[in-house]
Amino acid sequence: MSVISDRLKNVSISASAAMTQRARELAANGIKVVSLSSGEPDFPTPAHAIEAAHAAALAGDTKYPPMDGTPALKSAIIRKFKRDNNLDYDASQIVVSGGGKQVIFNAMLATCNPGDEVVIPTPSWVSYADIVKFAGGVPVAVPCHEQAGFKLRPEDLEAAITPRTKWLFLNFPNNPTGAACSRAEMAAIAEVMLRHHNVWIMTDDIYEHLVYDDFQFCTIAEVEPRLYDRVLTMNGVSKAYAMTGWRLGFCAGPKELISAISNVNGQNGGGIATLTQAAATAALDGPQDLLKERAAIYKERRDFVLDRLSEVDGLRCHRPEGAFYLYPNISGLIGKTSKGGRKIETDVDFVMALVEEHHVATVQGAAYAMSPFFRISYATSMEKLGEGCARIAQFCRDMR
Ligand SMILES: Cc1ncc(COP(=O)(O)O)c(C=O)c1O
Repeated sequence: MSVISDRLKNVSISASAAMTQRARELAANGIKVVSLSSGEPDFPTPAHAIEAAHAAALAGDTKYPPMDGTPALKSAIIRKFKRDNNLDYDASQIVVSGGGKQVIFNAMLATCNPGDEVVIPTPSWVSYADIVKFAGGVPVAVPCHEQAGFKLRPEDLEAAITPRTKWLFLNFPNNPTGAACSRAEMAAIAEVMLRHHNVWIMTDDIYEHLVYDDFQFCTIAEVEPRLYDRVLTMNGVSKAYAMTGWRLGFCAGPKELISAISNVNGQNGGGIATLTQAAATAALDGPQDLLKERAAIYKERRDFVLDRLSEVDGLRCHRPEGAFYLYPNISGLIGKTSKGGRKIETDVDFVMALVEEHHVATVQGAAYAMSPFFRISYATSMEKLGEGCARIAQFCRDMR
């Protein structure tokens, strides 16, 4: 009898983690790999956040934390939701977890019964479907087509909802496409959801601050206040404040739901590291100029990579509104053979040949449930992006 639970057997290891691992192995053999696979800002954590953690440690803030978050951090989160999203919450409507990932994990454990369906617009972040399965739910993919700018069309959403639907997940700006929703597009989604009173909405707003060309971010509870009581608004400090390693995410929603999530939090972690909470409080309450400064840098990188890739025969690249990813379509290269003799039949073949022959790490579209595409993360230096684009262009040019 296997020691592994049936629950875990359905869950795969993250595809981007698998590529990062392969890139590490090549690098360990002395090969210079250009890594465009990791969804992690290359900026440092703001100094004032680090100093706040240091000061908290010296002041003795090193005991067990409250399960749902420190009062100081919850206050900072309440101010953040008001400032950035014009949403009003009180402290009983907020819970803090170990990253946005744990927020979603705990929310699904707290709410999914076996067979409950969770509608996930795809392409989507690799972890959503696995988390849902882990919690006993059933992920239901709704394709957001390239021709529609990778947006969720109301008619597709409507068609995906059944009497078993418990949740709809939203993630705009999106990982992996970078697509974001305008107010009008979000209102159209909200209109569908107003008709389905039993369906809850989890909105993952982790890329909120990464939008370009004067695009205005919006979130569903603010766009349609009549949904406020059914929306779990999730966010965190990982992407906005370059704090991936601190592990802190948070969410806000109706009291009953929040108290259930807090219960799970207490069971599987016992609250989040006090020093991380002090750092996150400082990040949320501190100067916010860095968000715009960094967004301007990401925008330059996006434009740079788009310019380079649009010259490459066989690639078709949509111009995203936000996040730090591009999601080029490679259908023009399917069926060809790489210079190293690898037949490219899928996007997995494409990314594997690219990393083996030209040492550029990216992630296959299959990992995000839409093929044939691959994801490039441009959260890295211009120098690496220049080198990566040149190698990708050469790789594609050499195909026969
Ligand atoms: C869409 C999306 N949500 C959540 C996360 C996880 O964020 P955190 O580091 O806060 O767990 C990621 C990270 O890649 C992501 O892409």
